[in-house]
Amino acid sequence: MTPESIARVQASFEGLPRDARVLSARFYEEMFRTAPALRPLFPADLTSLQGHFESALSLVVRNMRELEALQQPLRDLGAQHIGWGARPADYLVAREALISAIRSLSPSWDAVLEADWRHAITAIVVPMLQGAAVETALAAERLAAELG
Ligand code: HEM
Repeated sequence: MTPESIARVQASFEGLPRDARVLSARFYEEMFRTAPALRPLFPADLTSLQGHFESALSLVVRNMRELEALQQPLRDLGAQHIGWGARPADYLVAREALISAIRSLSPSWDAVLEADWRHAITAIVVPMLQGAAVETALAAERLAAELG
């Protein structure tokens, strides 16, 4: 991402409501509206997850200029997500749900900002999926070792 694009995403994030969990509540609402089949994967009470999701997003957005340093933690998060049942296509649903949630809470919005956000979220999702792929490959290797 260009420094200008990162700056727009950071300014947009700063302009979102400060009340904890407003964004994540809107995000989950939107994700379950478009993909109701994902709801049972999550705990009934989303309160604590909303806090975790919002802190993770805030950490990544604030450090968008040093995304290289976050590759490994994001890969680890993606590997964890296998156990929670997240499939690759679900990440596209999550990406669009997050964009809709941000758009619905943003005082100003245009095509440039939407492209910036899509780019930023893609930069989060890619290492998560890479981490999931590595985890799967390692599981295959471990089993392959049993074959001798
Ligand atoms: C933008 C992409 C995503 C981000 C940044 C993200 C972030 C997170 C974070 C930070 C947690 C909490 C981890 C913890 O408590 O240690 C979490 C949990 C979880 N995520 Fe995601 N996630 C993403 C996409 C997805 C997708 C696509 C699914 C699809 C099913 C998903 C399903 C879950 C589930 C089921 C949990 C655990 C709920 C539980 O505590 O049982 N996530 N996610």
